[in-house]
Amino acid sequence: MQAIAKSSPNIALIKYWGKRDTLKNLPAVDSLSLTLDSLWTTMDVKFSPEILQDELVINDEQQDKEFSRVQDCLNLVAGESRNFAKIKSSCNFPISAGLASSSSSFSALVIAANSALGKKWNTHLFANQASAISGSAARSLLGGIVELENISNGIKIQQLSKPNRWPLKVIIAITDTRKKSISSSEAMKLSAKTSPFYASWVQDQVFDMKEAKTAVVDQDFEKLAVISEHNCLKMHSVMWTSRPSIVYWNSATINCMHAIRNLQKKGEPVFFTIDAGPQIKAICLPENEDLVEKRLGEIVGVKSIMKSDLGSGPSVDINI
Ligand code: DP6
Repeated sequence: MQAIAKSSPNIALIKYWGKRDTLKNLPAVDSLSLTLDSLWTTMDVKFSPEILQDELVINDEQQDKEFSRVQDCLNLVAGESRNFAKIKSSCNFPISAGLASSSSSFSALVIAANSALGKKWNTHLFANQASAISGSAARSLLGGIVELENISNGIKIQQLSKPNRWPLKVIIAITDTRKKSISSSEAMKLSAKTSPFYASWVQDQVFDMKEAKTAVVDQDFEKLAVISEHNCLKMHSVMWTSRPSIVYWNSATINCMHAIRNLQKKGEPVFFTIDAGPQIKAICLPENEDLVEKRLGEIVGVKSIMKSDLGSGPSVDINI
């Protein structure tokens, strides 16, 4: 039984950082994100009694690194006594470099594995399975602007805005494609244990979520810009004040932030967000997309630019 799913990464504006239960991988805070369109991961999953051991190939290369997480995901979806599986994945952007590749990968894996087993789409179940492996992955199950909310024994996701209702543009300045030095999971544990700001980060998230949700409903770009940058910088403050300090930025990351702040001073509707990596994601409106791309492209250390609209969520192909 085989299925192929395609899913895009999502970029959080109100961030997930920290876990309330590390064993179940439950997030400490609610979050809000944009699902992208032109970046994607495909996952081809085939279970068969004829396959003698699990096999994972990413972009045509045999992989060991993410293997155990992938196996955990398959065990969660199909049970520990499942058949072995062949998993073939392709990704059109750098992996593990702060571009949310785990969100597209694990959402696609959950969809493909369930579909290969003949299970029907179930947003709530799939979201909880995806989130148990990687917290941000659940949000990629829906398109447009998505909210992830903590509920008593898990999480719940819902679409706040369809992709075409508010056609925001995302421009990604890639400043380093190397894999990050510390994974988000490890960094989150360190932050929770050592940052003096962690408790207030968790406590204040409710206010940031409320503000961002109102901004989305009202399509208030300025309000969304202010709260998103504030939330991003708070998350990075928690990282920076961890012991040892977690700093994902490089000098080009900071220069991109200055360039965006300069555009804002001139009245351009644009803001930035940064995840667990040195890439800058600029969010803007269709009318200033070209200007933002040009400015970021001029900065020393920016290696390439990727652009995306908001996407409509994953798709699946089933061959049984
Ligand atoms: C900075 O989803 O990668 O991108 O649950 O440990 O796999 P795990 O973490 P992950 O964390 C993403 C953190 C972030 C912010 C966000 O996407 O909300």
